[in-house]
Amino acid sequence: MSSQDIPEENLPEEQAAAHGAAGHGGTATVTKHADDNPFHDPGLPAHKPRIQDIDEKAAKRSERTVAVLFMLSMLATVAFIACFVIFPIDKLVYIWPFGRVSALNFSLGWTLGAALFFIGAGAVHWARTLMSDEEIADDRHPIEASPEVKAKVMADFRQGAEESGMGRRKLIRNTMFGALALVPLTGVVLLRDLGPLPEKKLRKTLWAKGKQLINMNTHEPLRPEDITVGSLVFAMPEGLKEDDHNFQIEIGKAALMLVRIQPDDIKDKRELEWSHEGVVAFSKVCTHVGCPISLYEQQTHHVLCPCHQSTFDLSDGARVIFGPAGHPLPQLRIGVNAQGNLEALGDFEEPVGASFWERG
Ligand code: FES
Repeated sequence: MSSQDIPEENLPEEQAAAHGAAGHGGTATVTKHADDNPFHDPGLPAHKPRIQDIDEKAAKRSERTVAVLFMLSMLATVAFIACFVIFPIDKLVYIWPFGRVSALNFSLGWTLGAALFFIGAGAVHWARTLMSDEEIADDRHPIEASPEVKAKVMADFRQGAEESGMGRRKLIRNTMFGALALVPLTGVVLLRDLGPLPEKKLRKTLWAKGKQLINMNTHEPLRPEDITVGSLVFAMPEGLKEDDHNFQIEIGKAALMLVRIQPDDIKDKRELEWSHEGVVAFSKVCTHVGCPISLYEQQTHHVLCPCHQSTFDLSDGARVIFGPAGHPLPQLRIGVNAQGNLEALGDFEEPVGASFWERG
């Protein structure tokens, strides 16, 4: 149905005028009173002042309520930090109806939730009781603002700031800034959960002078004759057991691979000195991002990391010849003890594993 089909008495005044003008040669005039027009714009309802608008005591009460809410947020933030420090990570408590829960997680969740809730509650109460609640209507304007509009926006902004009481109600302003300043501390504290700094732990492995090399498959001490040309053998330090609680951490640093290379084929002088009758021992942990290396090509003496194809030349100090790794594989100096077993002559002389720990 077009406006042509609508009875004139049901059209808004302007449309009815245009409709009448078009339909009666521009001579018709709309005379109906706005009260008879169901499409008449009723305008904005009259503003009803709130108790806080007319009673300064009520306004003060609201101000104090808002300040209390912001202060509760600050207390919740302090409680969050206190809970983080007080509760050990493995402490469980029974809380109905949740059952046994982590005291740390439970307290952090509640205190952070409270800190954010009270900021929101304070802001809402401030807006509902103290900021101006007068509705205003503004006509649409062209998108590009004229200088007058920009000046009006700035004037409105200043008026809004004035009506919000930001400058006048210093108690609210200061407590709000306090609450907003404290809440981010919760995030700073949580940074501690990224774990303790590795400090020197990544610099040390279980290898030490006199520690025998244990075959990871047979769990027997390795002898030089166990390592034949072309084979790749994995070893771990004597004393480390697979059911040790820290086995994964320690083997992640100490895992070793051994190959036998004809001494004449070893190009790197230090590598030759640190080997025993052509048996060389290198860290099995890739220096890119730490994958275990396991592919050996005996003709070229290259080992390949399966993760991103870094390739190391074991006959040349485990130099990187391809791929993203930034460093050669660390070499372990080895020898033979009185029983004829292979042993370490010390720890690695540089950190093993991913170079991004680099190395300091
Ligand atoms: S981890 Fe070895 S190449 Fe990326």
